[in-house]
Amino acid sequence: MPDASTKRMMAHQPARIVSGQPIDEDARIEASVRPKRLDEYIGQKRVKENIQIAIQAARTRGEALDHVLLYGPPGLGKTTLAQIIANELNVPIKTSAGPLLERKGDLTAILTSLESKEVFFLDEIHRLQPAVEEVLYPAMEDFRVDLIIGQGPGARIHPFPLGHFTLIGATTRAGLITAPLRSRFGIVHRLDFYEPEDLLIILHRSAKILAIEMDEGGAEEIARRCRGTPRVANRLLRRSRDFAEVRAAGRITRAVAQEALAMLGIDENGLDEVDRNLMLALIDKYGGGPVGVSTLAATLSEEEDAIEEMYEPYLMQIGMIDRTPRGRVATPHAYEYFNREQPRRQPRLF
Ligand SMILES: Nc1ncnc2c1ncn2[C@@H]1O[C@H](COP(=O)(O)OP(=O)(O)O)[C@@H](O)[C@H]1O
Ligand SMILES: [Mg+2]
Repeated sequence: MPDASTKRMMAHQPARIVSGQPIDEDARIEASVRPKRLDEYIGQKRVKENIQIAIQAARTRGEALDHVLLYGPPGLGKTTLAQIIANELNVPIKTSAGPLLERKGDLTAILTSLESKEVFFLDEIHRLQPAVEEVLYPAMEDFRVDLIIGQGPGARIHPFPLGHFTLIGATTRAGLITAPLRSRFGIVHRLDFYEPEDLLIILHRSAKILAIEMDEGGAEEIARRCRGTPRVANRLLRRSRDFAEVRAAGRITRAVAQEALAMLGIDENGLDEVDRNLMLALIDKYGGGPVGVSTLAATLSEEEDAIEEMYEPYLMQIGMIDRTPRGRVATPHAYEYFNREQPRRQPRLF
């Protein structure tokens, strides 16, 4: 009979362990390890400093904070930062997401319910319907929604004043934000992948909260393989704990972390099987590129969005893939990493 930990390990195997996207089990754990104040928010120094100053200025003036747009790959701390901003401002927060707002009325209902200075966090803001997005323009700029009273030729537009709220938009795809929407944000920040030293701090903090025993070597192994992403770091920490409980008296050492992560198919750089398949398809099947994302997606039976949003950003970050106008190309570093001979004639980049 497998014991409780082994069962847990088997039951929760997500499709992709190194995905920055939240999986079911994350939701429960994230609530306990998610930082609540700005000084617990590790890394992202430049963003943090700017936000800190904006918050202080807004508080001093007694005004609502300017609208904030946060973008970057999944799992880097956009939702966390939005909640922290509301906490630091000492104001309530309402939350929704682009795909949830199907009709104009859905958004109008939320907007008209907002108090002055309240934070409205709108996740996946790039996925708003165009007609719904248009409701945001006067709301953000003039704190007004235009209600339409009546129908047909007799219909009248009735401007309705809103509280001076703060919109915090989050997106993994800054490129898909329309110009009129983007221009209405006073504060725009991109979150970057985290440095190893920041990930170490995050891992030790989470281990403490979750009462997990882990030494420095164990932390370093996880920090190196979590794709610069706190959500993945916390997930690999829990997986390593499962492994440690079953095989190593509960303590995460370097050897335990190495073995646990190897068992999950994650290599020394945090690449998993999907990454490897993607890179090998690019190198072996398409001669190193350039090849379009849609072709890659079809070859791997993956969504185009998933490739652009989750896989590629990290592969680009570690210098395996380049984006060119004609498609994706494998870098010399990728050839080396995967032990492949580079073709003598370099693919034309432009
Ligand atoms: N700067 C940070 N410091 C510490 N932990 C973080 C930080 N950013 C993110 N995390 C952790 O990663 C998890 C995922 O962050 P989240 O804000 O949900 O990412 P996103 O909204 O960008 O997908 C959080 O629950 C939190 O535990
Ligand atoms: Mg989020």
